[in-house]
Amino acid sequence: MRTRPDDTIDVDDLRRRIEDDRRAGLVPGCAVATAGTTNSGAIDDLPSIVRLCREQGVWAHVDGCFGGFFRITRRGREMLAGIEEADSVSVDAHKSLFLPHGTSALLVRDQATLRRAFEVPGAEYIPELGQDDARVDLCDYGPELTREIRGLGAWLPIKLHGIRAFEAELDAVLDLADELAERLRAIGDVQVMPRDTPHLPVVNFRLDGADVWTERLCELVCSRGHVHVSTSRLPDAGTVVRACVLQPQTDRAVIDRFLADVTWSIDRINEERGRT
Ligand SMILES: Cc1ncc(COP(=O)(O)O)c(C=O)c1O
Repeated sequence: MRTRPDDTIDVDDLRRRIEDDRRAGLVPGCAVATAGTTNSGAIDDLPSIVRLCREQGVWAHVDGCFGGFFRITRRGREMLAGIEEADSVSVDAHKSLFLPHGTSALLVRDQATLRRAFEVPGAEYIPELGQDDARVDLCDYGPELTREIRGLGAWLPIKLHGIRAFEAELDAVLDLADELAERLRAIGDVQVMPRDTPHLPVVNFRLDGADVWTERLCELVCSRGHVHVSTSRLPDAGTVVRACVLQPQTDRAVIDRFLADVTWSIDRINEERGRT
């Protein structure tokens, strides 16, 4: 799939591919848009993709594992407009609600579709709960018959702290990412990848010159032992250092330390490059 320079799906290309598949005798079943990509935090054009899927009779899924819960913030609601029209959305409370691993959920618009796929009618040993829609037997809606009560791990913290506490934390990481991008731009030799279209709190940046120097920057910053960042690759930029600000313990002091480590590392690299 072709992506645009802002790392989002090129919707015209998606349309062409669906039509090409159909001409080739294939049956396009599902298109997956991403609400916050892992690599750059980019948000696909959700309204256009959902509209295209409707036109084409294709299931529209949104991967909101990283970004879905930002919808509890005002900015998130603006950035993720259109997500509510999707046929299904996956969300990970273990990412953007900071909860224990394994607290994922799949939200599906039309319950009956899931039921048609997963219900095993007439299994003698499973008593029917009846036709009351409020009494859901989850085994009719997914592949698992016996399961843990995973929802409790998300329900309880929300009940205890209130959803506004999570909203405040998500707002804080959005602010910190913007601040980080701005302060990185002020450092010589650093190129920050554009974030002018809506982005979740990922800040990608690289050093001028060959990729090897950006890899070295990541290695040196991590070697300080304060902050862990990784490298990634973007189609146009090549190797970048990927700073994902999504942890309630990441506050301004951590950002200050990170920036100090970046500056320290660039000084070392400039010595290695022989430019002091
Ligand atoms: C956008 C997105 N979708 C899905 C996943 C898969 O995550 P998990 O296996 O924790 O559900 C990730 C992981 O980083 C992600 O960023």
